[in-house]
Amino acid sequence: MDLTREEESILNGEQGEGKQKAMELVTALGKIYGADSLIDITSAHLSGASYKTIGDGGLKYLEDLVGGGARVSVPSTLNPVGMDRTRWREMHIPESFAEKQLRIIDLYGQMGIDQVCSCTPYVGPNVPSMGDHVAWAESSALSFVNSYIGARTNREGGPGALAAAILGKTANYGLHLDEKRRPTVVIDADIDGSVFSYSLLGQAVGMAIGNGVPYFRNISPEVEEAKALSAAMAASGSIALYHVEGVTPEAGNFDVSELEVIHIGKKELENAYAKLNKTDDVQLIAIGCPHLTEKEMHQIAAFLKDKEKRNKDIEVWFCTSTAIREKCAEDVKIMERFGPVLADTCMVVAPIEGVFERTATNSAKAGNYLPTLCSQKAMCRDITALMELVL
Ligand code: F3S
Repeated sequence: MDLTREEESILNGEQGEGKQKAMELVTALGKIYGADSLIDITSAHLSGASYKTIGDGGLKYLEDLVGGGARVSVPSTLNPVGMDRTRWREMHIPESFAEKQLRIIDLYGQMGIDQVCSCTPYVGPNVPSMGDHVAWAESSALSFVNSYIGARTNREGGPGALAAAILGKTANYGLHLDEKRRPTVVIDADIDGSVFSYSLLGQAVGMAIGNGVPYFRNISPEVEEAKALSAAMAASGSIALYHVEGVTPEAGNFDVSELEVIHIGKKELENAYAKLNKTDDVQLIAIGCPHLTEKEMHQIAAFLKDKEKRNKDIEVWFCTSTAIREKCAEDVKIMERFGPVLADTCMVVAPIEGVFERTATNSAKAGNYLPTLCSQKAMCRDITALMELVL
């Protein structure tokens, strides 16, 4: 890989240990994936922020980076952490966990990272533009910005995205290159257009193709639908980019006439639903994966406005970002008659195992991860059906 003189000097440690470690990681990834050079990025989004997922080893790694003087050199945001940073007691979080989690957030802050702690930074404050090269971790968010916005990122892991953020550069391979953004299969979709149907569509496509670059026909997602679709395909498969005919910015660039066509309709959605639903009886309903947008907060509050929570045995959590919780204060008042509106966190990266065993969600992504990462029996239904469990 060709490095500039400046990049060589970072690799040789002439600009400090923090930057040197970052350059070692980015160039190692570049070599593995056959990159010819490094390219400048305009932003980063970092995962690996929950103490549940990174543990003491991750905490020590961050301490070392901060001790070595590492700081990000492009605008960077942080994924959800293991708890709401002010309301963690409402989530049954032990004090010992909270202390370490707050330390992790602080360390990211010392590196200059915006502690937004949300998986939807693309609705603000981290909004890339079409054609921007970026380094994003968080599979749902990176798929959204690749596909719906037309920015360019690989499916970064937490350490890779952090290293790129420190350098302001990433290795030039994969989805940064035009030829890797070509569709590999056409999906002829037949869904009812609800957000939940997009979640099931994503689940079914991930189950059908695993990876690749699907090109959708017959759907017209807006932000909320694309958010659900991106998250589901990234979890049931490892899809990091898709195109939607007539909707996403790069879809018109490709001739797909020779590609295989896969039909996803009623039968495939039923299979997807069956895969995600393993219990009829839950202790927690957790809504907001990926984090709820302002529009979704309004919709939920409008639905709940004249209703009462009758079933007190089931806890309800709503997950969003701090900014949206503040912006939707009136909605929050209504929603909190049912359960806390939590910011900074979600049902997957919070340590819910040990507190709950059966959890319901409206998200195919969470439906995939609740059993594997949180030891839960999962239920996955649309928001109305979930709320009816407590009405
Ligand atoms: Fe976001 Fe957590 Fe889902 S990070 S995408 S709410 S699993």
